[in-house]
Amino acid sequence: MKKVRIGIVGLGFMGTTHFRIYRKLGNAEIVAVSDVDPAKLAGDISKVVGNIGGEDNSKPLNLDGVKTYGAVADMLKDPSIDVIDICVPTPYHQKIAVEALKNGKNVFCEKPICRSLREVEELAVCARKSGKFFNVGMCIRAWPEYYHAQNLYKAGKLGRLRSAFFRRLSPDISGNSWNNWFMDGELSGGALLDLHLHDTDFIRYMFGRPTAVTSFGVSSVRSNGGTDHVITNYHFDNCLIVAEGGWCANKKVPFEMSFQMIFEKATVRLAGEGYKIYWESGEVESPQVGDSALPTGWHQELSYFVDCVEKNVTPEKYQNLDEIVDSFKIVMSEQESVDTGRTVTIKY
Ligand SMILES: NC(=O)c1ccc[n+]([C@@H]2O[C@H](COP(=O)([O-])OP(=O)(O)OC[C@H]3O[C@@H](n4cnc5c(N)ncnc54)[C@H](O)[C@@H]3O)[C@@H](O)[C@H]2O)c1
Repeated sequence: MKKVRIGIVGLGFMGTTHFRIYRKLGNAEIVAVSDVDPAKLAGDISKVVGNIGGEDNSKPLNLDGVKTYGAVADMLKDPSIDVIDICVPTPYHQKIAVEALKNGKNVFCEKPICRSLREVEELAVCARKSGKFFNVGMCIRAWPEYYHAQNLYKAGKLGRLRSAFFRRLSPDISGNSWNNWFMDGELSGGALLDLHLHDTDFIRYMFGRPTAVTSFGVSSVRSNGGTDHVITNYHFDNCLIVAEGGWCANKKVPFEMSFQMIFEKATVRLAGEGYKIYWESGEVESPQVGDSALPTGWHQELSYFVDCVEKNVTPEKYQNLDEIVDSFKIVMSEQESVDTGRTVTIKY
């Protein structure tokens, strides 16, 4: 069997996470990596830190048989690569993604897709024209508990939504990233774009398009100029949907991602007690979701993308590009709402 040949750009937290996942997939082979940091290209990932995952980065990455490129432009021309996986800081996504597509590569690009709406729209045009496969790492769509809940809802098993909240709270991540880029609001978009986007996007995925957003936020608590904590009310008819995200807490505080969705027929929660469905009948269910070989949304989304490239099937199980563009518009409207103190109607 011919394996799908991968080139990873950026060997920081996300790049090394993806590296380890591909290494476990039977149908993927990492043929090349690119990074501007020579230490990473020598396998030294001792300075890489992430918010979840808990991998031991003191041991070097085994790059035997993997080509290393200091200049990404050279890697994008390498004919032995089928998929370019982009794990560099957000402001560099667009240029690399566009070049990769133009070079005939399939592209898996980490979230946020880009840093500005203009870049997103240009990239979307290029991706549609290219005829290549393009997915964005909106991993919460594929995260087992979230994916299970949205499947139940879309199958009509839960009835109408009454109210929902989503929460994503990270400890302070200053000092964790390459050149501390997350803490520069211009580069990362703050917690609002970098972290909270996951819930914005999941709400778009599960419930469709909100008409407007009302957001409150606080900036420059940990970062320089970024919105570091945000709470948003998404305007939908006849229900209340709220999401909160931030990275203001100190470094000792554990990471939290949680939700509670109250439907006509059940309340679905991912919280301290785990993932549970509290049916109105009184029954409490603890669905066994996920797969020990592919335990996270990162595993699920990458393994699915590789399978699609291998079989030449369009990867649309978890996303379509229109929705990804919508999510970006929604989150940028949230930024506008924080900045202006007004409710913002979303222009789709
Ligand atoms: N899906 C998720 O859950 C998730 C989690 C964390 C980060 N991310 C996203 O992944 C991307 C990377 O974040 P990270 O946490 O891995 O950052 P990081 O700072 O840990 O790593 C960035 C890496 O990119 C390299 N790099 C910088 N500029 C480069 C360039 N021009 N060419 C090649 N390499 C370059 C750096 O040397 C570093 O190794 C970001 O867009 C981030 O938002 C997604």
